Amino acid sequence: MEYNFSDRVKDLGGNAIREIFKLLADPSVISFAGGFPTKTTLPTQLIATTTSELMSSSEAENILQYGSTEGYTPLRLTAIDYVRRYGINDINIDNTLIISGGQQGIDLTFKTFVNKGDVVLVEDPTYLAVLHILKTYEATAIGVDSGNDGLDLADLESKMIMHKPKVLYVVPTFSNPTGRTYSIAKRKAIYELAVKYNVIILEDDPYSELRFSGERVPSIKSFDKTGNVIYITSFSKTLAPGLRTGIAIGDPEVIRKMTIGKQATDVHTSSLSQAIINNFLSKSLMDARVSELIPLYLEKKNAMMSAIEKYMPKEFTYTNPDGGLFIFGEFDESLGINTMKLFPEVAAHKVAYVSGHSFFASEDKFNTLRLNYSNASLDQIDSGMKKLGDFFKKIIANK
Ligand SMILES: Cc1ncc(COP(=O)(O)O)c(C=O)c1O
Repeated sequence: MEYNFSDRVKDLGGNAIREIFKLLADPSVISFAGGFPTKTTLPTQLIATTTSELMSSSEAENILQYGSTEGYTPLRLTAIDYVRRYGINDINIDNTLIISGGQQGIDLTFKTFVNKGDVVLVEDPTYLAVLHILKTYEATAIGVDSGNDGLDLADLESKMIMHKPKVLYVVPTFSNPTGRTYSIAKRKAIYELAVKYNVIILEDDPYSELRFSGERVPSIKSFDKTGNVIYITSFSKTLAPGLRTGIAIGDPEVIRKMTIGKQATDVHTSSLSQAIINNFLSKSLMDARVSELIPLYLEKKNAMMSAIEKYMPKEFTYTNPDGGLFIFGEFDESLGINTMKLFPEVAAHKVAYVSGHSFFASEDKFNTLRLNYSNASLDQIDSGMKKLGDFFKKIIANK
């Protein structure tokens, strides 16, 4: 049959990372590509015990029955307490919506606010799935320049004036792909600009628990007195992505519309996943869990930093994150290195990264790449970075 796909999807290819996943089916490939938690940290035993506990409790049938779209009430109540760690206070159950992962929170926010042709501002570079989701809403993503401490405020303001965006999407803590964190001053200033120009801020925060160094920074949502900010966090990077569970916090009027949007999408997030997470949070286990993850991720990040220093060409500059899962690097522009074009050759050496251009909304910076350090072992980080270093040094020598 010749399919007559909707305008929404007809020009969409798979996103760059999903395509790379196919390559990663080969176990001999060392992957710095995805954003997977380290496999050995996934809490199989904890989930087994909790599930068994839940299934023997008086809640068992309730958990296996259809639930409400807003979420499992005990988890919504626990969430109110949980988000205090991000400086979010003075909320009640009507401010909360349980979502099927952060990705759904992004989708529901755009579903709620974005019409065809609307503009959404994003940091350049940003989480690439956002660019993809925006295409399904036939919206335009415009990139805002950024530096080490967050968005360039002058560029942000001029783009707010010029494009009258509906939404600004940001990952202010340990961004994907750069690993950078916005300063408190930038967070406050971004919030003030959003109020001034009537823009919704979608604050996506899946990584802030994974901090190796420095002080916790309050969320942008913690400054919100006007209902401009929707905050989303997820348990994918702290517990297990397969649980597909996160929390959205917003003004009750916004949460209500997002809930109606969610009803049409998946009725509700798996009640079993929600109950498992509620059990975990109610026992205050997050800090203990995070303190197990951090030394491991720090060790891996340090291994990757040393391997980059040891093996990569001197024309490669890179970020040094205080947490999260990613390092973003770029080759001196004058070299004309195109990490997307070179990817098949690199992959033939059984090592993978994500070409950085996929993360940019406004310009294709083909000289960039994103490296993940949580998936590979320490040995693989060393040998994989050596392969990458040798490859790019050869390319540069032949220029
Ligand atoms: C910035 C960002 N937002 C959202 C997500 C989606 O996460 P989840 O598994 O919670 O849907 C990711 C996943 O890598 C991410 O990096």
